[in-house]
Amino acid sequence: MPVVSIIGPKGGIGKTTLSINTTAALTRMLGDSLDQNSVCLFDLDLRLPTISSILESHPRKTFYDLFEILANKTYQVDFLHSIYRILTLFKAYLGKEIDGKNVQLQKSLALYKNLNTELFHFTEFDVGNLLQELFLERGQIHSVKEIKNLKPILKKIDLDQFKETLKKHENNSRPLADEFINYIEEYKFSLLGGEVPILGKKNHRKRINEPAFLLLFLEFVNELIDRFKYVVLDTPAGGVNHLSSLMNSIDQVLFIFDMSNSIAVNGSIDALHSFIDYYEDFSRDFEEGRLTGLDKAYVNRMVASRGEEAVTEILKNKKFGIIFNRCQSPKEISNCLDQLREYLETLDRFEEYKDRIHMVGMVPHHKIINITNNRGTLFYNKDSSLSKCINLVAENILSDNQNCPTLSNQNQEILNFLQKKGQGSWASRFNKIASSVG
Ligand SMILES: Nc1ncnc2c1ncn2[C@@H]1O[C@H](COP(=O)(O)OP(=O)(O)OP(=O)(O)O)[C@@H](O)[C@H]1O
Ligand SMILES: [Mg+2]
Repeated sequence: MPVVSIIGPKGGIGKTTLSINTTAALTRMLGDSLDQNSVCLFDLDLRLPTISSILESHPRKTFYDLFEILANKTYQVDFLHSIYRILTLFKAYLGKEIDGKNVQLQKSLALYKNLNTELFHFTEFDVGNLLQELFLERGQIHSVKEIKNLKPILKKIDLDQFKETLKKHENNSRPLADEFINYIEEYKFSLLGGEVPILGKKNHRKRINEPAFLLLFLEFVNELIDRFKYVVLDTPAGGVNHLSSLMNSIDQVLFIFDMSNSIAVNGSIDALHSFIDYYEDFSRDFEEGRLTGLDKAYVNRMVASRGEEAVTEILKNKKFGIIFNRCQSPKEISNCLDQLREYLETLDRFEEYKDRIHMVGMVPHHKIINITNNRGTLFYNKDSSLSKCINLVAENILSDNQNCPTLSNQNQEILNFLQKKGQGSWASRFNKIASSVG
């Protein structure tokens, strides 16, 4: 189930354009073996999702709806579950069924002290007032012994009744994956995400910063991803923030290098290095058992669903690929490769990375690729030389980069590979393309 993230250091670099077309090419290549669960394009941009309008395809339920369900139902029920656990153990302690050394009791006390109550809708539940009172006392409770001070409030909360409330709210509290998957018959792939900006809403921005909520979201995202054979993620600029944990279940990261000018090239090289650093740190922390917080919770869930071995493999051997975008001449790619090698040499990391960074594809700067004309964004199959460029990217995804050159190869070998799918010589193709740039 390869998950490929198309990512880049900044906005407007071609992530969305290349994600859409790569997905189209992948779908085409899978041909006869295609079914509804084969290929999925996932718009991970929570700030400004665009793919659904670009492809003029509108999901039954958007990720905005998903946020609403997770916030108003799932999160609330999960919170009630936590409180139920706390109440059960506190009452057992007060009833002398367990003693102060009980590990579960100590965990419940920690949970009680640390639960973030800000997103919980106290007023929506019958027992809400009492719960609010319970949490107001938190500042006074420092040790297991002091749980006794909560006796008057705890006495007023009927556990059986609480359980009934929980049961009542549990129904329909989980989002249904099917409702968020938008299979597009015309393109034969599914679309996820879009179409209303989610983080435009203050409440949602607040929610996504709450680890327990974010974890719910990530967990659901994973459930969706797990259904497909191939997933292409259009990963927003600065993808390594809220969704950073998700970045770690990705098998291959395709970095877009913006070749339009030297400043952009420098930026791309810099960003590639910091992304790699981030992944390496994560992998090391995992190996040494040093992950904390959300990262730890997320990886634990990954391990539970895929097994330790698979997770170690993903984290340790994540593939890194480069797609050169907006190329205008082969010389630029050659210069960029030299610059990248030199950069890694300076950091003393060339040896470590030379065989891990694959040259997956290149797309010229081309007037056909114009987002102002929505339908034009899906350029695949409209222009044969551009389609060939994208086919190469898709082929490499399908073959796990096995035939792809790396930084160890000579520049000429790399250039030959990248032009392999094109017609005529490299130079003549570029001339043709350059003359068509408007
Ligand atoms: N190779 C190319 N040749 C010409 N124009 C291009 C090329 N690649 C991308 N573009 C154009 O650049 C603009 C930005 O592309 P796109 O929206 O794909 O970038 P993005 O990285 O997804 O941006 P954002 O960070 O805002 O989501 C679009 O108008 C697109 O048509
Ligand atoms: Mg985009």
